[in-house]
This record gives sequence, structure tokens and C-alpha cells, in this order.
Amino acid sequence: MNKNTLKAIRRIPFRSITYDLELTAEEVASLMDLAAKVKNEPVQFRDALRGRNVALMFEKPSLRTRLTFELAARQVGAETVLSIGPVAEREPVKDVARNLARWVQCIVARTFEQETIDELARNSEVPVVNALSDLYHPCQALADVFTLKEKLGELRGRKVAFVGDGNNVAHSLMLTLPRQGVNLTVATPRGYEPKPRVVEIALEMADAYNAELCITHDPKEAVAGADAVYTDVWASMGQEHQRDKRRRHFQPFQVNSRLMARAKPEALFMHCLPAKRGEEVTDEVIESPQSVVFDQAENRLHTQKALLLMLLA
Ligand code: CP
Ligand code: NVA
Repeated sequence: MNKNTLKAIRRIPFRSITYDLELTAEEVASLMDLAAKVKNEPVQFRDALRGRNVALMFEKPSLRTRLTFELAARQVGAETVLSIGPVAEREPVKDVARNLARWVQCIVARTFEQETIDELARNSEVPVVNALSDLYHPCQALADVFTLKEKLGELRGRKVAFVGDGNNVAHSLMLTLPRQGVNLTVATPRGYEPKPRVVEIALEMADAYNAELCITHDPKEAVAGADAVYTDVWASMGQEHQRDKRRRHFQPFQVNSRLMARAKPEALFMHCLPAKRGEEVTDEVIESPQSVVFDQAENRLHTQKALLLMLLA
């Protein structure tokens, strides 16, 4: 690795990313700069993590996160090992953490319970990265900031509307976007609001970074004048049994052309994917020129590469 490559990487001191606030707003900004370099000149970083190993522990299905972490690691010279299924079925989580830390330099975990990630992190001598839990999806939020910057340029004062379930993706956006100067409005049906504790912390953060965070039950109010409209599935992984009930409760929150028409005329449509067309978004909107969902998916690769470099280089 040459000196310029090394200089481009702002190493962060040993740290797990169990949720969004474990990266400061300034570190997220540096990560965006590095992701842009990595995206433009991937070859420059191809040996940066040679000899390192990353364990991917996935309790839930994944297309984007799993494959982009595998590719990200490989493209910077690292190797991955994969475990699919419960993180700790035959032994305590803390023992799993202590085993893994003897073999690999980073643990990337997708779990049901946030506590599993937290316990891995408490007991691991190598960084643990949350690849989605029931509570947060920080890696998604990083790719989303990157995509918004690519499409909109300066983010301060921009408005994003998240319409749908107050879920893991909503939580991570709430903790991440206002710290980058984005005004965020989250509209959910009654009974599906983001967790009060997350709202409380996110409001404090928004205040500290001079951004607005609004939580509402009115999707039309939420998208009014928005630069981007974001949605996610109505029933997340693990909630499939509630799908029929949720379909009824969430119907007024579908992102369709009528709702998009209330945002800015050129407003972006965003979705972390996978999407259920005909439920949270219509085919027309997700296939429209305003839709940037595959840019978001692509950028998972670049931002996660930047994250691995900052944690492990
Ligand atoms: N957006 C996202 O995390 O996709 P996967 O569930 O396919 O990883
Ligand atoms: N909220 C969704 C996100 C999938 C990437 C879920 O948890 O299933």
C-alpha cells in the first residue's frame, strides 16, 4: 500500500459499531470522503487489508449486506468466513465472541436481538459491526448518507421524509441524518412509532447539530417539500406473522405517485430493499427515474469498504 493510500484512511481507534452513534458525525464525514475515493479508485486499496480476516455471522437472511461485506473485504485484500444461523445456539454469546476474536480481526453480525450484538461487542477484543438488528441498521444509513450526497451535494438544510414503520432503518436514519445537517420527518401509523428512547436521543442529536427531527402520523405533511422520500417494508424480518394486520394499518402510508407529488418535483425515492411492490411502494414509483434504490444498494459496497478500512487498516 503506498503512502497516499494510507493517508486517505482516517484510522479510528479500536471500536465496535453496535449502533449509529458509535461513529461521530466527523467520522461519518471522513468515511464519506474515503468511500468516494474507494469508489473512484478501488485498485488503490486492493491490498490495504491483506492478511486480515472478517467473520460474517448472519442470523437473518441477507442479499445486499452479506454480499457487499464479502466483496468489500475481498476487494481490499481481506478474507471472510461465514456463519448462517443463530449466533449462539450451543454456547453463550460471550464464548462465541471470545472464540471469534482469536481467529479474525473483525466480526460483522446480523442478529434478531440488539443485545446479541452488544454482548458480542462487550466480550470481543476485535471490532463488532452491526449488520442489522431488530433495532438498528447503521451500515444502511452510511450508504444512504453517501447516496444523498452523491445526488444532492451539500446536505445541510435538505429534507428527507421517512414514511412507514418506525423500525431499525428508521432508527438508524434518525440517529445519522440530522447529525449530517439533514432535516428528517418520520411518519408512521399510530402504534408503529420509533422507540421512545431512540426518539429522545435522536432529538438531542438533531438539536446539537442544528437540524430538525419531526415525528408525525401524517404522511402528506411528512413528504411536503421533501428532497427525498424513503420507505421500508411494513413487516420486517421476524414480523412476517403480522403481515396481514400491518398491511391494513399501513395502507395510507404507501409511497405512490400521489404521495410523491407532494414532495419536491425532482425528489428522490429511496428504499433499503428488499421492497414489497404494491405494499409500501408502488411499482411505478420504485421504477421511476427518481428512484435511487440501486444506487443505495451499490453504495453499500463502497461505504462498507471504507468502514472496514477505517476500523482495520
Ligand atoms: N438493505 C439490506 O440490508 O438488504 P439485505 O437484507 O439484503 O442485506
Ligand atoms: N426493516 C427491514 C430491513 C431489511 C434490510 C428488516 O429488518 O427486515
